[in-house]
Amino acid sequence: LGAAPVEIIPGKFTSVIGFNGSTPGPTIRARTGRTAVVTHYNGLPNTTLGGATGSCTIHLHGAHVPAVDDGYPTNWIRPGTRRTYTYPNNQLSTMLWYHDHTMDDTGPHVWYGMAGLYLLSDDFEDSLGLPSGNYEVPLVIQDRNFDANGQLVYTRNRMNGETGDTILVNGVIQPYFNVAKRKYRLRILNGSNARFYTLAFSNGQSFQVIGMEGGLLSKPVTVTSLRLAPAERADIVVSFSGISVGSNVALVNTAVSSTTSTYNIMRFNVTGTASDNSVVPANLRPFTKLNPADAVANRSFTVSMMGGMSNPMWVFNGLGFDPNRIDAQPKLGTTEIWSFTNMSMMDHPIHMHDNMFQILDINGTPPPATHAGWKDTVIVPPMGTARVIKKFEDYTGLYMFHCHMLEHEDYMLMSQFKVVP
Ligand code: C2O
Ligand code: CU
Repeated sequence: LGAAPVEIIPGKFTSVIGFNGSTPGPTIRARTGRTAVVTHYNGLPNTTLGGATGSCTIHLHGAHVPAVDDGYPTNWIRPGTRRTYTYPNNQLSTMLWYHDHTMDDTGPHVWYGMAGLYLLSDDFEDSLGLPSGNYEVPLVIQDRNFDANGQLVYTRNRMNGETGDTILVNGVIQPYFNVAKRKYRLRILNGSNARFYTLAFSNGQSFQVIGMEGGLLSKPVTVTSLRLAPAERADIVVSFSGISVGSNVALVNTAVSSTTSTYNIMRFNVTGTASDNSVVPANLRPFTKLNPADAVANRSFTVSMMGGMSNPMWVFNGLGFDPNRIDAQPKLGTTEIWSFTNMSMMDHPIHMHDNMFQILDINGTPPPATHAGWKDTVIVPPMGTARVIKKFEDYTGLYMFHCHMLEHEDYMLMSQFKVVP
């Protein structure tokens, strides 16, 4: 980890906080059932870009890991020191991502570069025959603002969260990608600090959602658009076979008008043909629903804003993050229902660490099929309620839950639960 210049805007060198000099950091490939060990050396000064602390902590988002390796917000890697995280990978295959989780400074750290992908695979997924190799493409979507010198601008927008006017995919501004007339599997992460995207293709064509944060769905779901909150992942299969060679199609963000700079995400240029023996089976991974009757506790958390427009602070049940306060103590091996109520006029993507959960309902309605599998983040709508069911397995200790609009997280919308024996 260290500050590094990278060329994002041609001819300009942008200072970022990179992993081995790059952002996003290197993609880590891991295998279910095989432990991975990752060591980070912190080469940052005591104060880094945006005036943020040079101390950091790395969380593997979506991973089911012992609390000691979860990247607790005050379990810092100090500048000039190193730390090793051990990831057992005892969970279903899926796309995770690593990012900084420093108390009060996660927003600037991630904005300036501290995020990367972690692809976990397993034999079952490999056996399905999904598009793979050159036809499986990870895409990290982020928005940023640059000044005239090509430097990142970060303003700590604690009210609405920090958003940018420039879209980057895998660290490149609105890139293009040459593809063949065939199926591709796109592994998409919304790695933005606060922007929500509604993903669609510019020609209106449909695509299949085969998984979200917790891995494969039980069946593919065909859609023409998909909304993705910060930290959510979409595993999709799209076919370019209907597009003629020499033409292109764009991945776009229909959450904004087509004349906005954040509408075009990237372009796929169809440059040739290729054989395609990949398949999307009608049945993907078998799925077992958690049973609400098994829940031993119901807990409620209400999100609201305090302090007024001039000094906004976001809170759960009236309280901001305090590392010395624990708001829930679920018992190891038990199932609970957590309900999040939003007393504000904007969406909040609430993320829980440790095991994946399942969404029971949003405003009383079960989630659409795309969102009915294993998840780690749920969008709680304005003035609405989302309920999730979760089983606390394998590990005791402290884990976080928080809004994944990172400026909300930094401005107190975070809490912790302790899994007890
Ligand atoms: Cu992606 Cu608690 O984090
Ligand atoms: Cu929020």
